[in-house]
Amino acid sequence: MVDIKDGSIEIRNLYKIFGPKAASHVAAVKNGLSKADLLQKTGYAHELRDINLDIPAGSIEVIMGLSGSGKSTLIRHINRLIDPTAGEVLIGGVDVCKMKYRDLRDFRRRQIAMVFQKFALLPHRNMLDNVIYGLEVCGVERKGSVDTAMRWIERVSFKGFEQRYPNQLSGGMQQRVGLARALFIDAPVLLMDEAYSGLDPLIRTDMQTVLLDLQKEIRKTIVFTTHDLDEALRLGDQIAILRDGRMVQQGTKQDIVLRLADDYVTNFVKQVNRGRVVSMDGVMSPLRSGAGVAGRLVTADTTMEEAISILTRDAQLEQLTVVGENSRPLGTITLRQLAWALITPDDALDDDGRARTEHPVRTDVPAEFSRG
Ligand SMILES: Nc1ncnc2c1ncn2[C@@H]1O[C@H](COP(=O)(O)OP(=O)(O)OP(=O)(O)O)[C@@H](O)[C@H]1O
Ligand SMILES: [Mg+2]
Repeated sequence: MVDIKDGSIEIRNLYKIFGPKAASHVAAVKNGLSKADLLQKTGYAHELRDINLDIPAGSIEVIMGLSGSGKSTLIRHINRLIDPTAGEVLIGGVDVCKMKYRDLRDFRRRQIAMVFQKFALLPHRNMLDNVIYGLEVCGVERKGSVDTAMRWIERVSFKGFEQRYPNQLSGGMQQRVGLARALFIDAPVLLMDEAYSGLDPLIRTDMQTVLLDLQKEIRKTIVFTTHDLDEALRLGDQIAILRDGRMVQQGTKQDIVLRLADDYVTNFVKQVNRGRVVSMDGVMSPLRSGAGVAGRLVTADTTMEEAISILTRDAQLEQLTVVGENSRPLGTITLRQLAWALITPDDALDDDGRARTEHPVRTDVPAEFSRG
């Protein structure tokens, strides 16, 4: 087995240009040759440009972008279904691109699992045997695997259906099997390419819950691609946004919602209920150092919605004090500030229609709002 130290993923200066002798065009692309010019001059399309990503072991990274932005191309570099034209992909410190054939084969079988949008189940095997298949190809005996397989089948709420064949089950059920199969291998890295995009909305939310609950226990490094912002905000510890093969923004959900990188991100984020995403550290008025703690305390990760709920339930409560570690006071927030911060700003875009880089949540409550 390849000696990876953990499930962390580092992607360094990754470029992908499709076409024979693509490497000879990397220098020009690095020097700023645009996608359109490259295509016009050479007939080659570059699909990923200077991608850098650091994914800590045990976290969920969501890669978001519109169709054709390069999500699948990027995720397939992680298990080297695609070789980069330039750059490095390190898993637990080991460069996937330098693995020899046997190492790569073992790595794919045991250390990295993939869940596909189209399930990719074997039609002539029942669900239990589909789950077990991954280890069977490694020569592990079926007999010893059944108990473990059943445990995962139970964990993804699939028990009772394990004797059925793929064509006897709905998409949601098949996707549970896809997940159980990936978990059964017990690889530290799990790749999920639009895994839930084919499911209808209720089942999709249900599967997100299954994944989040499981993750508390399994702590895998999960890379999940989607073009759905709600899904990204729900699942991602970190979110990376791809546009035309470039990484336009990376950060926590709050970073993404508060600091819009450009109009593409703004368009994604416009519909988001900021009350559920933004927490106190993003909107409070900071306290001067040495100020005392007064009134009701909330932690910095309290969402705006939760803070509003606390303040509206108690008419006597004027403001909340936000505290950090060891109850250190960080700031204060009033209902008026919260209401103001919830209003979608009409100046999120500048005169050229580009997103302003400073965050759109306003902490500067105008005088007429602040009067008591
Ligand atoms: N083998 C290939 N040869 C040439 N071009 C390719 C190849 N694979 C992908 N592309 C191109 O790369 C671009 C990005 O495709 P990719 O499938 O990565 O996008 P995506 O973000 O996953 O889209 P979707 O949301 O539709 O799945 C597309 O323009 C696609 O045509
Ligand atoms: Mg795709």
